[in-house]
Amino acid sequence: MKTTGALLWEPGTNSGWSVEDIEIDPPKDREVMVQLAASGICHSDHHLDDGVIPLPWAPVLGGHEGAGVITEVGPNVTDLEVGDHVVLSFLPSCGKCRMCVSGRSNMCALGAGVLAGYAPDGTHRVHARGKGVGCMSFLGTFAPYVCAPVDGVIKIDKDIPLDKAALIGCGVPTGWGSSVYAADMQIGDTVVIVGIGGVGINAVQGARHKGARNIIAVDPVAFKQEQAEAFGATHSVSDYEAAAELVGRLTDGQGADRVIITVGIAHGNLLNPAQEMTRRGGVIVLTSAAPILQRDVEFDLFTFAMSGKRLQGSLYGTTNSRNDVPLLCELYRSGQLMLDELITRTYRLEDINQAFTDMQEGKNLRGVIMYDH
Ligand SMILES: NC(=O)c1ccc[n+]([C@@H]2O[C@H](COP(=O)([O-])OP(=O)(O)OC[C@H]3O[C@@H](n4cnc5c(N)ncnc54)[C@H](O)[C@@H]3O)[C@@H](O)[C@H]2O)c1
Ligand SMILES: [Zn+2]
Ligand SMILES: [Zn+2]
Repeated sequence: MKTTGALLWEPGTNSGWSVEDIEIDPPKDREVMVQLAASGICHSDHHLDDGVIPLPWAPVLGGHEGAGVITEVGPNVTDLEVGDHVVLSFLPSCGKCRMCVSGRSNMCALGAGVLAGYAPDGTHRVHARGKGVGCMSFLGTFAPYVCAPVDGVIKIDKDIPLDKAALIGCGVPTGWGSSVYAADMQIGDTVVIVGIGGVGINAVQGARHKGARNIIAVDPVAFKQEQAEAFGATHSVSDYEAAAELVGRLTDGQGADRVIITVGIAHGNLLNPAQEMTRRGGVIVLTSAAPILQRDVEFDLFTFAMSGKRLQGSLYGTTNSRNDVPLLCELYRSGQLMLDELITRTYRLEDINQAFTDMQEGKNLRGVIMYDH
């Protein structure tokens, strides 16, 4: 099929996205074609452009947060059919490996290959200018159609609006799960969430669900602070210093139970201030991507060990997509999860560079590309 997609030909050079003609092959074994309704603009795609996530191959079709309707199924697709509404999961899970069957499907080995630069079978589904194109997360939602492996496709009920459901492909479960699962939040906790973007705002929602007593949102952008409070944060401040001062007052000097880091880039100086405002035995969750080659991290290891704190990485919010994607849809339907309000601005694919500029300038909780079929 001939269509249009947003590509990077020189990843890591901040050259921006080139919207151009692409060709997408029909689905092969255990693949489906999905006509997308929308694609979220996640900071991780920008990391392909700014080099935080370096790619040794090019070109790449970006985008990994989408939802739509199946228009074609390949051979050996047994549990999906044309017309099904689906969320595309940025991490596939096979459902059979040890990690999947033990309830850790975000650790499925398939997920480790999402930046391989080709489809799971080692070939390309997308072509441009006569070259094979690698797809972000085996997906490439910066095009109106995606040929996706069934392991990354999750069927949802048809009453869930697809443009909102798109965000359940990455930002919503990643943020929500960072609170609910990775941080193992408890009723009455005092929690600090650092960085209120598409991921952090959903960590606020997760903290609310888990009954946190104090939810302190940290972001330098006033709009983000306002939004955090609209989504359930009890306090909002602009930086670590103000957060630490507030945490001290709210906890009688003991410190926060959980600190969750969801800023755009995790630099090595972010961790220690987080640990300093965490109580003895508390948990620091790191969800943000860091420059892959970064090794220098400032961290007071003595205090860390001797006060029994825990540093927890969080991939996809430690969610199990086949359980949590439908659950998040249910929570939306019953009015307990805000999705509509996450979408600050919508864009046409042609305006994708503006969408990333707006993201970097802190103008959006989530920007969303809308496809008009
Ligand atoms: N672990 C995962 O599975 C996973 C999944 C998706 C995204 N991510 C990563 O999560 C991060 C956040 O993504 P996003 O889409 O929400 O980004 P975003 O750009 O929408 O939001 C980032 C927010 O951080 C704020 N910020 C930046 N520096 C800050 C600081 N020092 N203190 C407080 N706030 C600060 C910005 O103002 C912005 O509001 C990115 O690094 C992204 O790559 C990780
Ligand atoms: Zn993402
Ligand atoms: Zn698996």
